[in-house]
Amino acid sequence: MLTSSKARLSMRASLAPTSTIRELLALTDQPGMRSMAGGLPDPATFPVDALRAAAQRVLVEGSDAAHRALQYGPTDGVFDFRVAIAANQSLHGIAEMNPDELVVTTGSQQALDLLTRTMIDPGDDIAVDDPCYLGARQTFLAGGATLRGIPVDSCGLQTEVLAEMLATGYRPRLVYTVANFQNPSGATLSEQRRLALVALAEQYGFVIIEDDPYRSLSFTGELLSSLGSLNAEVVISIGSLSKVLSPGMRLGWLRAPMWIREAIVRAKQACDLHTSTLTQMIALQILELPGFIDSHITANRVRYATRSLALGSAIEARGYFAAMPKGGMFTWVQMPGVDTEVLLARSILEGVAFVPGAAFSVDQMWNDFARLSFATLDETNLVIAANILADVADTMR
Ligand SMILES: Cc1ncc(COP(=O)(O)O)c(C=O)c1O
Repeated sequence: MLTSSKARLSMRASLAPTSTIRELLALTDQPGMRSMAGGLPDPATFPVDALRAAAQRVLVEGSDAAHRALQYGPTDGVFDFRVAIAANQSLHGIAEMNPDELVVTTGSQQALDLLTRTMIDPGDDIAVDDPCYLGARQTFLAGGATLRGIPVDSCGLQTEVLAEMLATGYRPRLVYTVANFQNPSGATLSEQRRLALVALAEQYGFVIIEDDPYRSLSFTGELLSSLGSLNAEVVISIGSLSKVLSPGMRLGWLRAPMWIREAIVRAKQACDLHTSTLTQMIALQILELPGFIDSHITANRVRYATRSLALGSAIEARGYFAAMPKGGMFTWVQMPGVDTEVLLARSILEGVAFVPGAAFSVDQMWNDFARLSFATLDETNLVIAANILADVADTMR
């Protein structure tokens, strides 16, 4: 008897969601497309010369550094690299971070996958931002978790809603949030809600995942206390060099209480043995260059702040709502009465792409919202794209 190909896949494989939006977004790679869809850093920010020089310093024929960089390495990451990450508080917001608590991961996306493997059994509940970062939702669903969305407003995840759910018996194992410049809404969790969330975790015994890849991209440099700094025993903090150095290097990390960390290291061993020693050692060279990473990050902040303002202002000038983020890469736009999935299909024909709000939905509908990334296009192109988008949206109201 013939078995269909699909039937031969695992249950887990069938849990990964498919979407029409993804099919539409596959069209956005066409030449000439003004794409605000991807969460991609501007390639002009990649410090190519500094990275080449760093690679040359690591890859000296016959040197210890070259041998280490090209050899298998420790599962939890190159020790000196962990020390350098731990020492850079602006990357993670935790004073006196202990490098022994860190695990280097292959991008922060792997940290989410490892946490799902080690903390979630099929059917377990996870409370997440709603709208939610797509990659987290996908990973949690593939692990068999049941997701409940906690609505996000301009002050981040609404802890009052979570508190009510907990008071009536809801018991998630994990609560996942992007507290700074959230993907997709750009919202930042207020100080009051940060304190409330940590207090709820202490009271009800869940663990918070604080996913923080945009932290360093605060436009003013101002930042609220990281959740991990409020109580490191109930918070797992995830960070990344993707948005501030290079996503292609695939360098992220997580900091977790020791009882979780040990399980994570075992899971990582099974996944990929370790993250590339070569990229860790090149990034280490960059982190050790006096003042380099800080001035590089400052330049990125200024670039993105200017673009965010240009895009948000152009959208608002056309009478639509644009949330003005205080950092990161995304503007969250509301176009009342406009189905943004239909808008995407039409705007692609006019050479403009973005991600419709529905793609990020958990329980709420975000059908008249759109996530616009301002990271990759320059101001002129952002303004042109915003006006094309508004022109198409105007025809749909
Ligand atoms: C909120 C959030 N978490 C994690 C990631 C994954 O980043 P990486 O694996 O490159 O560190 C992204 C990427 O867009 C993101 O927006």
